[in-house]
Amino acid sequence: MMLHIPGVLRPDQVEAMRARLRASDWIDGRASVGEQGARVKRNRQLAEGSPLALELGQIVSAALMGNPLFFAAVLPLRILPPYFNSYAGGEHYGPHVDGAIRVNRGAAPVRSDVSCTVFLSEPEEYEGGELTVIDTYGTHEVKLPAGDAIVYPSTSIHQVQPVTGGERVASFLWVQSMVRDDWQRSMLYELDANIQSLRGKHGDVPELVGLTGHYHNLLRQWAEI
Ligand code: NI
Repeated sequence: MMLHIPGVLRPDQVEAMRARLRASDWIDGRASVGEQGARVKRNRQLAEGSPLALELGQIVSAALMGNPLFFAAVLPLRILPPYFNSYAGGEHYGPHVDGAIRVNRGAAPVRSDVSCTVFLSEPEEYEGGELTVIDTYGTHEVKLPAGDAIVYPSTSIHQVQPVTGGERVASFLWVQSMVRDDWQRSMLYELDANIQSLRGKHGDVPELVGLTGHYHNLLRQWAEI
């Protein structure tokens, strides 16, 4: 399931991050990928574990973890420190699949179930740079307002199209979900969204108590924690 999560970061948070990132040192993005990724990745990123990446990453992680839509769709168990990247002058990231297991400095390794990009540039600031994700329903092109996020299954082949003008700055991260399977997560998300919508219309009628119980019983069956 791909899901657009609007307004993860407030405009003032985006502004402050952009100012810090403008003054930062970027390194070759190939530092954090395996052999296949290195052949197709051409961009720049903040060094993994650098003080700025950790500081800004905490703001991004906290905003996502406090977002009810993100929580319902992703069911996060572990979230990796976010990366920050920049594409300009034709830089791109060709078709690839994200590595399954990510080493998390000093903590338990994280299985990448869900990939998340938080856009930090406005779409009109750059040409190209669409995130293209291929799933069983076809190819999806994503280019969102600054502060918005997209989540998609880490199992999908995806790419960032060449940025042919301006600069595309974004944060991205991986999450290990309590529910490994994308289809099960999608079903839980849809059930939850419909329960919330019905509750808004009818209050806690007995049927909704039953459906809420059903949601939690499915989560109990499927969650690994
Ligand atoms: Ni990727």
